[in-house]
Amino acid sequence: MFDKWEELEESIKDCKKCKLCQGRQNIVFGVGNKKAKVMFIGEGPGADEDKQGEPFVGRAGKLMNLAFQTVGIKREEVYIGNIVKCRPPNNRDPEEDEVRECINYLRNQVKLIEPQVIVLLGRIALQNILGKELKITTSRGKWIEKKGIQYMPTWHPAALLRDETKKVDFINDLQKVVDFLHNN
Ligand code: URA
Ligand code: SF4
Repeated sequence: MFDKWEELEESIKDCKKCKLCQGRQNIVFGVGNKKAKVMFIGEGPGADEDKQGEPFVGRAGKLMNLAFQTVGIKREEVYIGNIVKCRPPNNRDPEEDEVRECINYLRNQVKLIEPQVIVLLGRIALQNILGKELKITTSRGKWIEKKGIQYMPTWHPAALLRDETKKVDFINDLQKVVDFLHNN
């Protein structure tokens, strides 16, 4: 664990700890406010993210930005990261060995940011952070407290592209986060 962002960022440069390094254009480290009260954690970069080196800049990200606007979250006031930082081929799920190698970078980011709330975007984020036994369909929208951090699992933004009806849930879940921060 590094105590300084510069050291952490230096340590990930040219990372080849897992096989996802082979197909990437860019490592998508994460972006946002390093003192954020809220962190958003996705799954891994898609094609647009890989190209631009920034999380959630493609279609799913644009939809997430719209939801942010709806509830009054500013993208620059939160921190956005992913479980794995290099794009899995054909956007497949990250594999266990890849997550095992990569997740320490994310843990270090969490430790440096010390967020009050972490929003888990979809099943991959939920299961790798809070436990493989959890289901996104039953966990979403419900607070889970662990080691002083409040977790809010919700749909992955890409799921909203496939199923419009999930948008309402997503916005409601974000609203719970906004309300929590107003009261804490
Ligand atoms: N999907 C993710 O899980 N993360 C991104 O950064 C983009 C799409
Ligand atoms: Fe390194 Fe993570 Fe990329 Fe794997 S996914 S090469 S562990 S940065």
